[in-house]
Amino acid sequence: MQQTLILLKPDAVQRRLIGEVTGRFERKGLRLAGLKFVQASRSLAESHYAVHKGKPFYESLIQFLTSGPTVAMVWEGREAVAVCRLMMGATDGAKSPPGTIRGDFSLSVQNNLIHGSDSPENAAAEIALWFESKELVSHTTTDSKWIG
Ligand code: RTP
Ligand code: MG
Repeated sequence: MQQTLILLKPDAVQRRLIGEVTGRFERKGLRLAGLKFVQASRSLAESHYAVHKGKPFYESLIQFLTSGPTVAMVWEGREAVAVCRLMMGATDGAKSPPGTIRGDFSLSVQNNLIHGSDSPENAAAEIALWFESKELVSHTTTDSKWIG
């Protein structure tokens, strides 16, 4: 079963959108495998966004991700990485279609509420960065035969 890392960034927490966004993943049929509330350190934020080091927005992005608590989650299910990216929408909230999380709740490029892994390989690395293996729970839900 494919897993992906989802972060509800500090703007989502401050704007009280944790339930709204989490509910969408639940209703889609994805299964929660890990969940925690984290004040990211600078070193965690830098590791998470290492691919963007050197870009003009990097310093601002690190400040943003460390500016308050983040909800870190692992969701699993069929095609979980691509499904979550589709549900998130485009990076720029202003260009993201209605019906997507960023399209419905963000007008910003940086303050776009949510992070989702962009490949299964990056998902595995990001999950290992944010979670210890003992913090992940392997289980099945009673509706799994209806979801596939
Ligand atoms: P994410 O990694 O957070 O899921 O977002 P993404 O793939 O849609 O976008 P990415 O290019 O990886 O950028 C990472 C995060 O950096 C901020 N950003 N700011 N000011 C800018 O031009 C700019 N570009 C990107 C956003 O918070 C974006 O989600
Ligand atoms: Mg990205």
